[in-house]
Amino acid sequence: MSNTQYQIGMVGLGTMGCNLVMNMADHGFSVAGYDRDPEKVNSIQRTAGDRQVKGAYSLEEFIGLLKTPRAIMMLVPAGGPVDAVINELLPHLDKGDLLIDSGNSHFVDTSRRTKELESKGYHFMGMGISGGEEGARFGPSLMPGGPKDGYELVRPILEAVSAKVNNEPCVAYMGPGAAGHYVKMVHNGIEYGIMQLISEAYDLLKRGAGLSDDELSQVFDEWNRTELQSFLIEITAEIFLQKDEKTGDRLVNKILDRARSKGTGKWTSQDAMDLQVPIPTIDMAVIMRDLSALKDQRVAAAKVLTGPKPHFNGDKAAFVQKVKNALYFAIVTSYAQGMAMLQKASETYEYNLQPEDVARIWRGGCIIRAALLELIRTAYATNPALPNLLVDPNFAKELLQRQADVREVLIKAVEWGLSVPCLMASLTYFDGYRSERLPTNLVQAQRDKFGAHTYERVDEPGIFHTEWNKVEAK
Ligand code: 6PG
Repeated sequence: MSNTQYQIGMVGLGTMGCNLVMNMADHGFSVAGYDRDPEKVNSIQRTAGDRQVKGAYSLEEFIGLLKTPRAIMMLVPAGGPVDAVINELLPHLDKGDLLIDSGNSHFVDTSRRTKELESKGYHFMGMGISGGEEGARFGPSLMPGGPKDGYELVRPILEAVSAKVNNEPCVAYMGPGAAGHYVKMVHNGIEYGIMQLISEAYDLLKRGAGLSDDELSQVFDEWNRTELQSFLIEITAEIFLQKDEKTGDRLVNKILDRARSKGTGKWTSQDAMDLQVPIPTIDMAVIMRDLSALKDQRVAAAKVLTGPKPHFNGDKAAFVQKVKNALYFAIVTSYAQGMAMLQKASETYEYNLQPEDVARIWRGGCIIRAALLELIRTAYATNPALPNLLVDPNFAKELLQRQADVREVLIKAVEWGLSVPCLMASLTYFDGYRSERLPTNLVQAQRDKFGAHTYERVDEPGIFHTEWNKVEAK
């Protein structure tokens, strides 16, 4: 092959970058790779064998290998490293070349970079990738955004390497600007919500109902054969069986209960606040990671703040079924909140997102892939303007059938003193959303009484203010 024919370039040959390069090469695309670390370049060349992959040891060499207009993907850590790579690449690029940032970049950064680079005549795309190392190697879900003609340039490659569900690729053009990274951010928010919900179900079953790790694995494995079928439920069933190499005990019990995060969940909550979209299940998941980090304080508080302890004396199988229903109910609300947020963001940031496409490309490859997404896709295909998944007739029916179980499970959790904030937030979201009248009339009254902030009336349009009487409370 001549040195100018490589169809796509990859900057950043860490595990994700390397796996994506191999995935592209396996689908017949020629790829040039560059990394500052020569060892990574050696390694990709070794891994590639006789695939059409060429590692470059300098940016000059790398740029010279690429077909024009160039398409260069970056898989480097979010933040400063992305700007650093762009600045290094720019002097070597020609107008019309395309840069794709495939990391977990903050959408605000992507928006800024898109404007800067487009104004200089380059194309810039922010693309979310989900599915971890395995996904990158064998089929991720891809969420590209940015210039449409940039997308068309790489569309055949992206469609080929993405996961497939019923032969449909798990990739679609999300929209202009930072739409791709925005969708990935919300994907991660939903991911946080579902992971915390599964952990709460685990707590109810283990500390609450006393299930053993083997029983837990069995329960999750069974759930994975039902309407709860999903990647996260599947790996949870496997996790309970994993033995710790050091002690021979189950590894899950040896893992410190202090969860870390890289920021995407927090960004989701932050932007939801800016957009004024309620996403309480996702917010609580972010909060619980922060609360989990206060391990030392929790250990000390446990000695002072005593409370009830679980005591189970009912029908275990029936309780497991109720927890399953509660989990399904809450997972639906997590998707509902994420999708509602995407709809509001699409209007505000003019992304022109198609909720049906988002649900379609999340059905395979990504961390939140689930049988449920087929139903979510159908809901938006039937009614693209659906204001909230909860009121889709099919989902409404499913939720109504399960709400009594959610309430029962939550009563148990409260009685036992177990902390289940995401389950609780999901039910409260449902109850709030279905409330024709909320007590916020009183909030408005208070605002007007202490600060003349005005209010609206139920019986007349307009904005009102009252000179409130100073009445002595009786
Ligand atoms: C994915 C994941 C991935 C993310 C991890 C860790 O879609 O493949 O979302 O992008 O980095 O889930 O995220 P936290 O460290 O924030 O938990």
